[in-house]
Order: sequence, then structure tokens, then C-alpha cells
Amino acid sequence: MITLKSPREIALMKEAGAVVAKVFEGLKAALRPGLSTLELDELANEIITSNGGISAEKGYYGYPGNICISVNDTVLHGIPSSKIILKEGDIVSFDIVVRKHGYCADACRTYPVGMTSPKALRLIEVTRQSFFEAVKLIKPGVHLGDIQAKIQEVNESNGYSLIRDYTGHGIGREMHEDPSIPNYGKAGTGIILKEGMTICIEPMVAEGKSATRVLGDGWTVKMKDEKLSCHYENTVAVTADGYEILTLDEGEK
Ligand code: MF3
Ligand code: CO
Repeated sequence: MITLKSPREIALMKEAGAVVAKVFEGLKAALRPGLSTLELDELANEIITSNGGISAEKGYYGYPGNICISVNDTVLHGIPSSKIILKEGDIVSFDIVVRKHGYCADACRTYPVGMTSPKALRLIEVTRQSFFEAVKLIKPGVHLGDIQAKIQEVNESNGYSLIRDYTGHGIGREMHEDPSIPNYGKAGTGIILKEGMTICIEPMVAEGKSATRVLGDGWTVKMKDEKLSCHYENTVAVTADGYEILTLDEGEK
């Protein structure tokens, strides 16, 4: 069931989104080779709590981290660890869900660590571009499949594949609400967007083949072919005449 949000509820989600944005700014400023992903998780949690939020990820089906930190061929749900040390040339994604005043906002960024290869930078840029090309189609009356097809088209035309084992989703009081939003699809199909829908658009893109596997920790999702992967996400509200992105940080504005 898709719940439509009132302008008041969307304003509360935007408050949660502003906290997510602050975390990205803090992580980006701190990011350097030699840091462990656990240290970055702790920094993220300090920023979340000092801004009146809580991590919606911690404890979600037993998830142990405050945020998800996924490096290189890890595409999703990387558990922060003192043993995972970032090195020059890595790409690292931070997937963050904050709850504040009972409402959630969810976003993800992938950043290079120090100097990175041109091919990694291209993957980051295309993934991000696919989000913005797709999001600008959003307005009431549009089919969800139009958004999905655009994400697929932008990434595949650049030689990448889309992860099919995980999807975008609705969001609100819960981190995951209906509908489910695959990163592929057909224009003109699927539900019709309405004012008040709040959705997470989140291209998860692979340099190689789309197949993933989950490690023995039950969370960490890696690319089977061990090639690079990338993730970019924002929480988006459908407005009367278009859309509003609720999780933009200064770097993205
Ligand atoms: N933030 C992820 C998403 O984009 C979900 C993380 S699940 C968790 O939907 F358990 F790891 F928190
Ligand atoms: Co999400």
C-alpha cells in the first residue's frame, strides 16, 4: 500500500534529509586513505545524533552499523569495520538513513578516496547522472516505469549493468515502504505517480556483470565478478507540479 504524505509530513522528512546531508558533508571532509570504515561510521553517528536524529539502519533486521559503507566491488550493506582500511584509489559509498520526528530520509553517495582512476570516476559520474536524468521526469501523472527505464538507458548506454537483486522503494515513517522501484523497466508501465508520494530513487550500477552475492556475515553484498560498483540515492517527494529532492547536500546543489 502506498501512503501519500501531507506537506507537513514532507517537511519533517526534509528535516531528516538535512541531517543526512550534514553527514555527507562531514564524511567528505574527513575522508582520506588510512581511515577505517568503523571510524567513519562513528563520525556519521556523532553528526546524526548531535543534529537530533537517530540511525534508522542500526538494528534494522539486526544490522550492526549506524550506516552502510561499501568499498569498490562491495555494492551494498558493507558493515563498518576496524579491519576495512580505506586506501588511495578506492571508491566508497555511504548509504545513510536518518529518522527524526518519526520520519525517515535515505540517501547514498559514492566518493573517490584520494586520486582515483578515470574509469572509476566515470562510473561515479554516470551513476549520478542517471539519477538526475531520471528524477527530472518526475511529476504527477507519469508512470514509474518511465523513471526506471531512464536509469537503465543511461547506464546501459555507457556500457554498465544494473544490479537487479535490490531496488529503490517508497519511504516515510518506515525506511522501506511501497512501491518497490527496480533500476530497469519499460516506459509507460507501472504505477502512476501522485502528489505526496515519497520515494527513494537509487541506481546501483556495476562496471561488469550484474550478479551479486552476500557474504557469510549475512549483509555485505559484493559483485560476483569482483568488478567495481557504484550507488547513488536520494529521497524524492512528488509535488503538485514536479518533484523535490529532500536529501541534497551542498556538494550536490
Ligand atoms: N539504506 C538502504 C537502502 O537504500 C537500506 C539499508 S538496510 C540496512 O534502502 F539494514 F542495512 F540498514
Ligand atoms: Co534506499
